[in-house]
Amino acid sequence: MTERYDVIVLGAGAAGLMCAATAGYQGHSVLVLDHANKPGKKILMSGGGRCNFTNLNTTPAHFTSANPHFCKSALNRYSPWHFLELVERHGVEHVEKAPGQLFCAGSSKEILQVLLTECDWAGAEVRLNTSVTHVNDRPVAGADGGEGQGADPALVASAADGFRLRTAGGELHARRLVVATGGLSIPTLGAGPFGYRLAERFGLTVLPTRAGLVPFTLQPADKAWLAELAGVSAEVAAEAGGRRFQEPLLITHRGLSGPAMLQVSSFWRPGDEVAVDWLPALADPAAALRQARAEQPAAGVEKWLRGFFSQRLAATLAEHFGWRGPLQHQSNERLAQIAALLKGWRFKPAGTEGYRTAEVTLGGLDTDAVSSKTFEAKAVPGLFFIGEVLDVTGELGGFNFQWAWASAHAAAQAL
Ligand code: FDA
Repeated sequence: MTERYDVIVLGAGAAGLMCAATAGYQGHSVLVLDHANKPGKKILMSGGGRCNFTNLNTTPAHFTSANPHFCKSALNRYSPWHFLELVERHGVEHVEKAPGQLFCAGSSKEILQVLLTECDWAGAEVRLNTSVTHVNDRPVAGADGGEGQGADPALVASAADGFRLRTAGGELHARRLVVATGGLSIPTLGAGPFGYRLAERFGLTVLPTRAGLVPFTLQPADKAWLAELAGVSAEVAAEAGGRRFQEPLLITHRGLSGPAMLQVSSFWRPGDEVAVDWLPALADPAAALRQARAEQPAAGVEKWLRGFFSQRLAATLAEHFGWRGPLQHQSNERLAQIAALLKGWRFKPAGTEGYRTAEVTLGGLDTDAVSSKTFEAKAVPGLFFIGEVLDVTGELGGFNFQWAWASAHAAAQAL
């Protein structure tokens, strides 16, 4: 016997749950399927367990996509204030950690609970531990079923009668199918390529993917001097791919992390260098060094650096770059060299930690295939894509969840 629903949502993550609840309130019968044993695993992990659930300063400029205009309509129609109103209605206390970045004052669990409660109130059912193997009798490959088989024109034609999904638990049918299976980041949290493979089976283009918001690994020469500073952080300005972010950098045993590195990682390409300004707040360190030389001629560069960095970092920078001897022995030219290195240190990452630790996946379903108003595939009526599976990626700071909420809300209006 086939179970019938108006809407089936694949993926009980941020976008899927939001869409399911919104569609349920509109009177649709809704089923959410997830192959994982728990819903919303990334929500639980996010923001260090406190979920940075939105950013009040959300604008399209904070998103990367082959089509930078695609995200505008949905973001306009469902703003951070809409989600904040929902969160406050459920009594979730929140804090603004950095300008615009809203986190739970308690735990990420509260955001997941808001979504599950909304699904419950809206009559949307969430079913876990369920993998889809076939759509309209055609196998769909991905994390749960081998390699992709390419576009299947007969599959597109069959979608006119809706979507028949085969699972181990039986057959399901929906008039509308919403794909909210997310990106590839952190496979241990349930991530996989199913959404991309399904899109390809329907003849939709999937753009190349890569890990974003991810720590860098270092070449052996840089690792040799930086690894001993594991745990040390400093406010820097980092630049790659033409984008600059002033945020903390964190040195780890494996490489360089912290918000500054995560942000630029999304704009970095293998082989590129990353530039680091260790003193972003100091416009003219050469002048500051000359002044220090006049005031404390017997002091060394290391002592001067301690005014800006932890003792360990100051000592290691001075040692590594060979900044020895009292300031009074340093020529103006030498002080200018030191200043230039501090303002523009460059390193060539060995790579990134990849999907294992990345917060997001860049690339994904080509937005040209989907309406920016309804999120319905232009070539396949009834098939919708929302959230991170699309080629829309936010910067660090709550933007990715805002995209999940906004795209889900827009799609739900059109179901
Ligand atoms: P999401 O990944 O949330 O959900 C996809 C769902 O689909 C999962 O439940 C998965 O199990 C399911 N699924 C996958 N394949 C399937 C299949 N074949 N069959 C059935 N189900 C399937 N963003 C932010 O704005 N603020 C933050 O604080 C953070 N913090 C953060 C920390 C960490 C560690 C990570 C990894 C990521 C973040 N993010 C974030 C990013 C944010 O979590 C992410 O952008 C959203 O969760 C994307 O929402 P989606 O619903 O699109 O995918």
